Amino acid sequence: MSTFLKRLLGNILEESEVSKLTSSFDVIGSIVILKIPETLVDRKQVIANAILNNIKSARSVYMQTSPVIGDHRTRKLELIAGDDSPITLYKEYGCRFKVDVEQTYFSPRLSTERSRIANLAFEDEVVTNMFAGVGTFSIIICKYRNVKKVYNVDINRAAHELSIYNSRLNKMEEKIESFCGDAKEVIKSHINGKSNRVLMPLPEKAKYFVCDAVACLKEEQGMIHYFQHVRADSKKSAVENGRSETEDAFREYSHDIQFLHVVREVGPRFYQLVSDVLIKKGTR
Ligand SMILES: C[S@@+](CC[C@H](N)C(=O)[O-])C[C@H]1O[C@@H](n2cnc3c(N)ncnc32)[C@H](O)[C@@H]1O
Repeated sequence: MSTFLKRLLGNILEESEVSKLTSSFDVIGSIVILKIPETLVDRKQVIANAILNNIKSARSVYMQTSPVIGDHRTRKLELIAGDDSPITLYKEYGCRFKVDVEQTYFSPRLSTERSRIANLAFEDEVVTNMFAGVGTFSIIICKYRNVKKVYNVDINRAAHELSIYNSRLNKMEEKIESFCGDAKEVIKSHINGKSNRVLMPLPEKAKYFVCDAVACLKEEQGMIHYFQHVRADSKKSAVENGRSETEDAFREYSHDIQFLHVVREVGPRFYQLVSDVLIKKGTR
């Protein structure tokens, strides 16, 4: 959160109250989403109005009233100021994305990870994004790397339709093909054995899809970006726990964890990690 906003809310809240708010504050295009702790809910209107009046791009301020839930990984939102308009245009690394913050999952907090993975892709690679959402990882990969093809899969029709829209918006519809459905089914029927690189950005459940990600890879070898959630007392032990959980998830395959790091802290003693796992198919 910017010093500007800290100063802004500092005029209407105690310092300790400001810090509670600032840890969960996202600006996505014209939309601001914040979590308001129980103790501050009766001040939500004044907080939202201060934000709306002082952030130039803000048109709508929503309070998040549920965690990210369900297969579609969406959250419940309550409008507290401005227009009730959960659809916005978001820009990242020179790409544009139409985003629906109510019907689909979207987080600006993954932007560094999106850029890191995009920079790892090689020319002429085929990439599968098993849990593509509105297509952010895929579009950024295509923008920065001359890959041959990207396959998107998502079970949420709203996310699937936005991923198609976003591919066109960024003039990448020739390279990106989007499928709506369960990744297990789509891989089996359409994209088995076609990819050099597979993204698994569904940390809550990726471990149940490891065999599908491996099946998606071409015969020789390939890279899997495996997202996971790990409980740990510190960042250091999160990395240790994450490594052993990744080893366990890929134990049936000849693999090498080439990189592993904490993407972000998602709750108290709860971390999101990603591992880059090289798979050598046909050997064990
Ligand atoms: C955490 S979000 C992905 C975010 C996205 N990669 C991004 O950066 O914005 C996970 C996505 O997986 C989708 N999903 C959940 N279960 C699925 C499944 N079995 N098959 C395909 N997609 C699934 C959800 O609809 C959701 O859009």
